[in-house]
Amino acid sequence: MGSGKELLILGVLVMLQECWTDCKIGQNKKGRHCVDANECEEQPGVCRENSNCFNTDGSFYCSCKQGFRDSDKQVNYTLEGNCQDINECTEDNNTCGPAAHCTNLMGSFNCTCNFGYTNSTSVGHCTDINECFEAQMKPVDLCGEKGTCINSNGSYWCSCSEGYTNYGNSRTKCSPLNCDNFSGDGGPASLLGGLADILSMMRNSCVALSNPSAASEVKTDGDALLEKLFTAAESILSPGQLKSSEDVSGLLSTVENAIMLIGPQLKHNNTKIETTETDAEIAVQRGNTRPTGPIQLTNEVASLDTDWTTAAGSGSYPGFALAALLSYKKLEKLVNRSFEGLKGHEKDGLNPSFQISSKVVSVLVSNPNTQQLNRNVTITLRHLQDANESEQLSYVCAYWKETGAWSTEGCYQQESNATYTVCECEHLSSFAVLMALYPMKHTFGLQVVTKVGLTISLLCLVLCILTFKFCRSIKGTRTTIHLHLCICLFIADIFFLAGISQTKPVGGCRFVAAMLHYFFLAVFTWMLLEGVQLYRMVVLVFNTTMRPLYLYITGYGTPLVIVVISAIIRPGGYGTDEHCWLSLKDGLIWSFFGPVCFVIILNVIFFLVTVWKLAQKFATLNPDLTKLHKIRAFTVTAIAQMCILGLMWVFGAFLFQEENTVVAYIFTILNSLQGALVFFMHCLLSKQVREEYAYFLSCICTSQKKSYSDLTSTNPSSSQSQASRSGQHTGESQI
Ligand SMILES: *[C@@H]1O[C@H](CO)[C@@H](O)[C@H](O)[C@H]1NC(C)=O
Ligand SMILES: *[C@@H]1O[C@H](CO)[C@@H](O)[C@H](O)[C@H]1NC(C)=O
Ligand SMILES: *[C@@H]1O[C@H](CO)[C@@H](O)[C@H](O)[C@H]1NC(C)=O
Ligand SMILES: *[C@@H]1O[C@H](CO)[C@@H](O)[C@H](O)[C@H]1NC(C)=O
Ligand SMILES: *[C@@H]1O[C@H](CO)[C@@H](O)[C@H](O)[C@H]1NC(C)=O
Ligand SMILES: *[C@@H]1O[C@H](CO)[C@@H](O)[C@H](O)[C@H]1NC(C)=O
Ligand SMILES: *[C@@H]1O[C@H](CO)[C@@H](O)[C@H](O)[C@H]1NC(C)=O
Ligand SMILES: *[C@@H]1O[C@H](CO)[C@@H](O)[C@H](O)[C@H]1NC(C)=O
Ligand SMILES: *[C@@H]1O[C@H](CO)[C@@H](O)[C@H](O)[C@H]1NC(C)=O
Ligand SMILES: *[C@@H]1O[C@H](CO)[C@@H](O)[C@H](O)[C@H]1NC(C)=O
Ligand SMILES: *[C@@H]1O[C@H](CO)[C@@H](O)[C@H](O)[C@H]1NC(C)=O
Repeated sequence: MGSGKELLILGVLVMLQECWTDCKIGQNKKGRHCVDANECEEQPGVCRENSNCFNTDGSFYCSCKQGFRDSDKQVNYTLEGNCQDINECTEDNNTCGPAAHCTNLMGSFNCTCNFGYTNSTSVGHCTDINECFEAQMKPVDLCGEKGTCINSNGSYWCSCSEGYTNYGNSRTKCSPLNCDNFSGDGGPASLLGGLADILSMMRNSCVALSNPSAASEVKTDGDALLEKLFTAAESILSPGQLKSSEDVSGLLSTVENAIMLIGPQLKHNNTKIETTETDAEIAVQRGNTRPTGPIQLTNEVASLDTDWTTAAGSGSYPGFALAALLSYKKLEKLVNRSFEGLKGHEKDGLNPSFQISSKVVSVLVSNPNTQQLNRNVTITLRHLQDANESEQLSYVCAYWKETGAWSTEGCYQQESNATYTVCECEHLSSFAVLMALYPMKHTFGLQVVTKVGLTISLLCLVLCILTFKFCRSIKGTRTTIHLHLCICLFIADIFFLAGISQTKPVGGCRFVAAMLHYFFLAVFTWMLLEGVQLYRMVVLVFNTTMRPLYLYITGYGTPLVIVVISAIIRPGGYGTDEHCWLSLKDGLIWSFFGPVCFVIILNVIFFLVTVWKLAQKFATLNPDLTKLHKIRAFTVTAIAQMCILGLMWVFGAFLFQEENTVVAYIFTILNSLQGALVFFMHCLLSKQVREEYAYFLSCICTSQKKSYSDLTSTNPSSSQSQASRSGQHTGESQI
């Protein structure tokens, strides 16, 4: 029975053994055996981030991922798995090679080739790009026709042949550079001392730029050059330096040319420079592609709106484009003249007077074809003084021509308010806003006075002419003279009425001017003949009739000779922009005023002698009083007429020189009343003529009566009076 007990004990022992047997660390019990435990799987996170877990027999280890390592032990495996990124860029300068930029990344790094390099051959080693070769292959024109492309490490540069330059920007195209514009010989520019300095400065800079051997050495400093330019310009612009319009043109174009040369050498995209005389802003864009987008340059007195497409132009692109706005702070006083060339601003047949109304600004762009831009540029100019447009005032956009005069061609005034005028121009130059001032206030009145007065005058002259022609009682040399004086005055007035302020057809205007010249001269010649005749009547007493042929030759021939000679010497002097009258500028006007003065002086002498003789005759013992009274009346009439005609032309002399309304009124009224005065003095004041009129009127009345009441016989008293009158008249006509 003892064997069963033993078996039970054995069984319990085995069970106990099985229960108490332990596996080693890193092992797991599997059944009765211990097997290796996979810690990597069983305990996720046993290795920290950036490391990989590796299971070993009975253990495990953590290994850092590529690009990481244990921060303490400087090895790439660790039990703790404490892995940190390796900064490959700082560890080794040469990670990416000398021509690349290294960027550290988490667990790795990135190499970027520097500009001008590429890694075509092997990773991590960037090599120079041969831009010149690539450009040839494409083909792209990197350096322009006259530039040689030279490759360099990481870049290239253009070597320009003589006469070409890239303005110190070695990677832009070579464009032609003409230094003739700064030669200074020829043109008025050379006459000005200060300009010559600028020119020589620019010439040196220009020559240095366009000379290939020097260009590489000369360090171009556009900003310093610009400052020098404006300092020099300042001294020229100081008062008293610039005198003629040509001087101004010389300065404007020299400064423009200089900025075109300096602009591409400037360092910055936008350069502003202000001195006491100028204010300039220059915008430059560089690059191998044409720039686009809007440009706006603004200063205190003006602003420019355009775009880079217009500024660069459509011709060959030199690798840069520039636009500049330059305002002159005090130049406007010097160019407050030369408005003669401005045409087409008449309003109601009136020509305005101009004056400058803004500062002068120069606008320039690199587009060499500035005479015909493909898009209009907009220039907004501030007025010198606020004033709204009105009947009497309008604003005109104008530019200063090279020849030294204002012109409006290709410039349009878009809109104006009291402070600003917006101009649109098809070409570029120096601009300003002009004020066109119209003499509106008095003009209408003046026109009415002229028209009404001249019409009355013409009617009176017709009456005079008819009287002198048909009035038999006053026939004689004096009447002949009066008749032709009236005829000349009549024709002159007709031309005056018709054409003096018409300026449109040039030929017609010249004709009117010549006719006015001729007939007004003739009026004075006949007036001289009248003085001569009076003198003869008083001094010679007998044989006072003159042969009519002589009268005609003198009266009509003398003015003809004067006009013909004047027309031959100064054919262009007839007709001006403002009036169909003689030009005041070239002295032609003296071919009128000269003879007029001569006639007046001669007549004054004749009248003095006549009056003196008359006085003597009154003092004689037996004066023929009736005859003497008559002569006295004639003399007074003649003197009065001469005074009026002479006075009228004294005012006439000022009339065409300046727009003075008072003078204009006096001239117009005197001119209009000529005919009426002649009629009054020679016809109404003359007893014979009055009687003749009375007779004439009574004739008309009787003939009307006749027709109404069928009376047949003439009035006997009327024929009697006629007879008695003709008796008187023979006496008179002998004088
Ligand atoms: C990093 O670990 C790898 C195995 O993962 C080994 O081949 C290499 O030599 C180790 N590097 C260093 C620097 O210890
Ligand atoms: C790394 O660059 C530093 C200075 O930037 C220099 O002193 C050092 O010699 C360079 N090391 C190598 C290996 O080129
Ligand atoms: C490495 O640099 C290149 C160029 O800058 C970039 O395109 C790329 O995405 C970068 N790689 C990484 C992983 O950041
Ligand atoms: C080199 O170029 C390849 C593609 O051609 C690019 O994947 C690599 O990141 C580049 N390496 C460097 C150092 O630029
Ligand atoms: C570029 O640099 C390498 C060395 O860095 C030099 O050997 C080579 O002549 C250089 N090339 C040019 C065109 O300067
Ligand atoms: C130089 O002058 C010529 C003629 O005088 C002109 O055609 C040319 O545009 C000027 N050049 C510059 C840069 O102003
Ligand atoms: C000039 O303009 C170009 C193109 O707009 C721009 O890339 C550049 O940064 C600018 N330079 C300066 C100095 O403003
Ligand atoms: C321009 O001249 C006119 C007279 O001709 C004068 O009234 C005006 O004040 C002048 N303007 C300037 C800015 O000098
Ligand atoms: C410039 O503007 C004027 C008037 O607005 C217009 O007649 C002309 O056609 C324009 N020229 C161009 C090139 O746009
Ligand atoms: C111009 O006209 C506006 C209204 O039409 C007026 O308000 C302004 O005062 C005027 N300016 C001047 C200077 O006359
Ligand atoms: C006058 O015109 C300018 C330019 O168009 C504008 O900037 C300004 O506001 C205007 N002023 C008035 C009072 O309308």
